[in-house]
Amino acid sequence: MNVTALDALMRPESVAIVGASTDSTKIGYTVVKNIIDGGYKGKIYPINPKANEVLGLKAYPSLLDVPGKIDAAVVTVPAKLVLSVVEEAGKKGVKGLIIISSGFGEVGNKDLEAQLVAKAKEYGVRIMGPNIVGTLSNAEKLNASFAPILPLVGKGALVSQSGALLIALDMATFTRKVGLEKLISIGNMSDVDFADLVEWLDKDDATSCISLYIEGFKDGRKFMEVAKKAIKPVIALKAGVSAHGAAAAASHTGSLAGAAKVYGAAFQQAGVVQATDLNNLFDLSLALSLQPPMLGDNLVIITNGGGVGVLATDAAEKFNLPLKFVPKDVQEELKKYMPEFGSAKNPVDLTGMAGYDWYHDSVKIAFSHKWTEGLVVLYCETAMTNPMEIAQGIKKAIDESGVKNKPVIVSFVGGEKSEKAMQWLVENEIPSYSAPDLAVHAISALREYARMKEIVSEPEDKLNNIDKLAALKVIRTAREDGRDALTEIEAKQVFAAYGLPTTITKLAKSEDEASALAQEIGFPIVMKIVSPEILHKSDAGGVKVNIKDDVSCRDAYRTILKNAKEYNANAHIHGVAIQEMAPWGTEVILGSINDATFGPTMMFGLGGIFVEVLKDVTFRVAPVSKKSALRMIEEIRGAPILAGVRGEEPRDRDVLAETISRYAHMIVDLQEEVSESDANPVLVYQEGRGLKVVDARIILKKK
Ligand code: COA
Repeated sequence: MNVTALDALMRPESVAIVGASTDSTKIGYTVVKNIIDGGYKGKIYPINPKANEVLGLKAYPSLLDVPGKIDAAVVTVPAKLVLSVVEEAGKKGVKGLIIISSGFGEVGNKDLEAQLVAKAKEYGVRIMGPNIVGTLSNAEKLNASFAPILPLVGKGALVSQSGALLIALDMATFTRKVGLEKLISIGNMSDVDFADLVEWLDKDDATSCISLYIEGFKDGRKFMEVAKKAIKPVIALKAGVSAHGAAAAASHTGSLAGAAKVYGAAFQQAGVVQATDLNNLFDLSLALSLQPPMLGDNLVIITNGGGVGVLATDAAEKFNLPLKFVPKDVQEELKKYMPEFGSAKNPVDLTGMAGYDWYHDSVKIAFSHKWTEGLVVLYCETAMTNPMEIAQGIKKAIDESGVKNKPVIVSFVGGEKSEKAMQWLVENEIPSYSAPDLAVHAISALREYARMKEIVSEPEDKLNNIDKLAALKVIRTAREDGRDALTEIEAKQVFAAYGLPTTITKLAKSEDEASALAQEIGFPIVMKIVSPEILHKSDAGGVKVNIKDDVSCRDAYRTILKNAKEYNANAHIHGVAIQEMAPWGTEVILGSINDATFGPTMMFGLGGIFVEVLKDVTFRVAPVSKKSALRMIEEIRGAPILAGVRGEEPRDRDVLAETISRYAHMIVDLQEEVSESDANPVLVYQEGRGLKVVDARIILKKK
C-alpha cells in the first residue's frame, strides 16, 4: 500500500476543490465553505474554469494552473468529467482524490469507475470514493465534505459505507455527546477500502479506536489480515445481514450460511468487536476509544442502589462476564465505607447513603486491588447526594490509584444533574452511560476485545498425512465425466486423503458384486444409491440400513435401483455403495462453503434434528486451528451433549477438533475446485474412540 499517498490524502497540507462553485446551492460551493469554516490551516485552491474567485479565495481554471503543490483534491464535478480530472491530478502530482461525484459503479457504470482507478494507478494517485460525502478530521480541522460541520471532538474514527448515515452520525455526535476524531465516507471503495483505512488509522496518532459501518467487503480476507494486526480496537457494525444467504445452496451448509454468521465469524477471528446496532456502535466506540482492554474476567460493580446493581448483575451474565464475590480482604476493607446493611460482596452496595467519600474510598480500594480486572461504578441520583461530586470522587479515586491497565465504566441514573456529571466524566475520559446494562455491555466489549486478541495471536497447526494429489485425482475423474457433484464414494475418498476417518464404502455395479462386497466388509451393512443426479438419497428411497444377510442385500440392491429409476428416470446410476454400518454415536455435521467475500468457510454443529430444526451451528473462515475448533465445539448451544450429560460419557472432542481442523485445511487446499461440502452425519464416539464420517457430499465449482 502506498502509505505516503494516503498520508497526503488524510493529512493534506494543501487542498484543491475541483468544481468549486460560487452558486451556494451546489456541492462545490458547500465543500469550499466547509473547508474554510472548519478552520483548515493549509492552502485551499478552488478550481473552476469560469470563476476567478470562490468565497474570497482565488480560483484557478484547472489543477495544472495552480502554482504550488497540491496534496489532495476534492472532486465535485459530474461523473463524465471525472476521468479528465484524474488525468490532470496525476500530471499535477496530486497524491489523493476525494471523489464526491456519483454516477459510477453504484449505477452500473463499472467501466468508468475502473478507468478512474487505472488512470489513478498510472500516476500513483489514491482515490477515496467515488460516490462519497467526503472526509472530516478534527485534528486537521478539515471538513473536506458536504456534511454540515466537523463532528464533536473525540478520539475515535468512524468509516462509513453509507454517505447519508455518515451525515446523520456527524450531527448525532453533538446530541449524544460522543465525539469523533474523524468521519470518513468510503462509498464505492474503488481504490481505498476498509482494509487500507484500518491499516492507516491504526498508525494515526489522533485516532484511538476505529469504528466501521459496513454494508459489504470486496475482499474479506484482506480486511481480516489487516484487522488481525491492528493495535487499536476495531468495531464493526455490519448491515444487510439478511440478503447474503438468499442464493440457492446445494449443500446443507450452504443453506445455513448467512452473512450474519460468516461476517460474525470473520470479525471474531480478526479480533474485531461487533456492534449490535447504531446506538451500540456509539456506546462501544466511547468505551474502546477511552479505556484499555479488560485482561481478565474479574469484574467489580460498585453501586448505591440494589436495583441498578441487580440489573447490572443480570447484564454481566448476559454479556458473558458473570460476577464473582470479591476476595475476603477486599470485602473487609470495603465494609468501612457502608452501613451494616450494605453489601461488600459483589455488587458492592454502598447503599443510598453513599456520598463523595464512600464512593471515592471504595472505588480506590476496589480499583487498586490486584484481583480486580475491570470496574463498573453505578449511581442512582438521590436528594441527599450531588451527582457532580460523586463523579469527581470517582475520577479522583481512579487517578490516585495510579492504575492504567484496567477499564472503568460508569452509569448514572437520574435527571439533568446526572447527565451533566456523566458529560464531565466523558470529558475526563471515563465512559458513562445512562443505564447500568449499557455500562456492563461496554465493559464486556472491552473484555471480549482482549479475549479475541489473545486468540488472534495463536499460531496455526501443522497437519501431516495429507495427500492433496489423491484428492485432486478424484476430482479430475469427476470433471472428465462432466460432473459438478462427486458421488458419496468419491467425496469420502477426498475426505480420506485429508485424514478424515470415513466408513469403508465400496461400489457395487451388480447384485453379485454387492453380495461379494457385503461379505468382504462384513454384515451388518448399509447400502446407498450412487448417482450424481441423486444427492438426496433418502428422499429417492435410495438408502437401506442394517442389512444383516445376503438375501436382504440382494433384495435391497434391486429395490434401491428400482426406487432410483422411479425417482429420476434420467439419472446416471453408477451402482450401489456398500458400506460398513458404523455403530451409532452422537451425530454432528461438518460442512463448508466458498463464501463470495471470505472464501473457504467452515461450519460445525450437532446433526440430525439439531441442525434441521434448531440450526445450532457455528462458522469459521478457514483455516481453523485445533484450538479454534475446540472453541467451535464449546460455543454451540448443544455443547453439553458432547461434553456428556445425564451420566453419558463425554464424546471424543479431541478427535472431533482435529477433524474440523483437517476439514478446514482441506477446503483451503481445494478452494479452486470445491464449492460446497458436507460431512453429515459424522458419528462421534466416547472419548478415545474417535468418530466416523458416515455420509459425504462435495459440490465442485462450475468450470
Ligand atoms: N473543472 C473544474 N470545475 C468544473 C469543470 C472542470 N473541468 N467543469 C465544470 N466545472 C464546474 C461547473 O462549471 C460548476 O461550477 P459553476 O456552478 O460555477 O458553474 C461546478 O463545476 C459543478 O458542476 P455542475 O455541472 O454544476 O455539477 P453539479 O454541482 O450540479 O453536480 C455533483 C456535481 C458532483 C455534485 C453531481 O454530479 C453529483 O454527483 N451529485 C451527487 C453527489 C453525492 O450525493 N455523492 C455521494 C454521497 S453518498
